[in-house]
Amino acid sequence: MTTCKKAVTEVAARNIILVGFMGTGKSAVGKELAETYGWNFIDSDTEIERTEGRTIPEIFAEKGEAYFRLCEEMVLRKLTTGNRQVISTGGGSVLLEANREAMLEGGFVVELQASVETIVSRVARDRNRPLLQGDPVERVNTLMEARKNAYRFAHYAIDTDLMRVVDIAAAVRKEYERFSAE
Ligand code: S3P
Repeated sequence: MTTCKKAVTEVAARNIILVGFMGTGKSAVGKELAETYGWNFIDSDTEIERTEGRTIPEIFAEKGEAYFRLCEEMVLRKLTTGNRQVISTGGGSVLLEANREAMLEGGFVVELQASVETIVSRVARDRNRPLLQGDPVERVNTLMEARKNAYRFAHYAIDTDLMRVVDIAAAVRKEYERFSAE
């Protein structure tokens, strides 16, 4: 007979949801994980761009960040009700409590961490991240400081500095399987 705890865990472990600051490798790790499990890989930013018919920089420029956050909330609410998906989320999605709750209800939440140096080296010339335009070192430092506790709600966190994508994915798999078996 399925116990209550087991039933809750089964529901909770439907998806793997990757959170973390911009440039921590959520998409690369997410694709690797999805391939291993034969699950769908979904990037919440790509979903927002698809539903809005515009790029993220266009949405920020034409409608503003608050509108983008509304789109993000709606997309995450929908995605987290699905199954067998690896979902890569935008770095700021964790700022809204409703999103954090939807993620925790929708699956196993993993925070990918990286140092300021690693992130800056990855995003320095990126034109697709509106919040990092200007001086990337200043922008990354300021946003990371402001968000330093925002990812703590995740079930599991991993420092990805110096790790290969396949090794990060393997570590996440191990934790996810342990979590699902509890
Ligand atoms: C954002 C992160 C971006 C994207 C948007 C805002 C943020 O996603 O959602 O530019 O507030 O950190 P990535 O984390 O995939 O870069």
